[in-house]
Amino acid sequence: AVTRTPFIAGNWKMNLDHLQAVALVQKLHWTLRDAKHESGSVEVALFPPFTDLRPVQTLIDADKIPFALGAQDISTHDSGAYTGEVSGQFLAKLDVSYVIIGHSERREYHHEGDDIVAAKTQAALRHGLVPVICVGETAADLEEYGASAVPVKQLGIALEGLSADADIVVAYEPVWAIGSGQAATPEQAQEVAAALRAVIADALGVDAAARTRILYGGSVKSSNIASFLREPDVDGALVGGASLVADEFAAIIRFQK
Ligand code: G3P
Repeated sequence: AVTRTPFIAGNWKMNLDHLQAVALVQKLHWTLRDAKHESGSVEVALFPPFTDLRPVQTLIDADKIPFALGAQDISTHDSGAYTGEVSGQFLAKLDVSYVIIGHSERREYHHEGDDIVAAKTQAALRHGLVPVICVGETAADLEEYGASAVPVKQLGIALEGLSADADIVVAYEPVWAIGSGQAATPEQAQEVAAALRAVIADALGVDAAARTRILYGGSVKSSNIASFLREPDVDGALVGGASLVADEFAAIIRFQK
């Protein structure tokens, strides 16, 4: 059987300047070290704003902190006259390993449709970055089509044309659960995660489906993380608000199954 290392990702969104970022990473590191957190049992990745990446990378490197680095977005282009865009090749040079793609906030406020999400997924893979592909239904979608239909369709388009060995992470974030304090139930998360794993099997094959990590996101906190990770198809969490508080994020990382 394939074992998938649990993955806890902190999406800071547009919070914390570079000084606050360094302070949070230090505090997180000390908190986990004092608690004798064993690195290796869980993978932790931080997704700060672009302007924080370099200072956080320098700190992680200097203090050998076992966190991976991720970006919150990527350009579909590699270089050129695209004012304000950030290329995957610049991210890769900063030791960035992951990039969030298709977050509902980008879909909603920046009108990123499934075609852009697919192009960004390919841009990430071109530069050796692992795309964290976000999918999820709105409250209106949930009412009209149920939980799985929209995420299944979104993921199917994002995976079109990828090779069977593509290294990806999928995040199921019901839009109604983001920042609302109203998380999905573990059963709901499991139902959609299983449907998404079937999409991966169809598009990339059963090996890819077995090894790909599927995260749940939406009002995850230290008091509910264990219930999600108990589900067979939920391999971790994409955490927003709770990743900005060192003690709380440390407690999520140290979850007990
Ligand atoms: O990407 C993570 C996110 O959208 C969830 O946010 O604040 O509900 O944990 P939050």
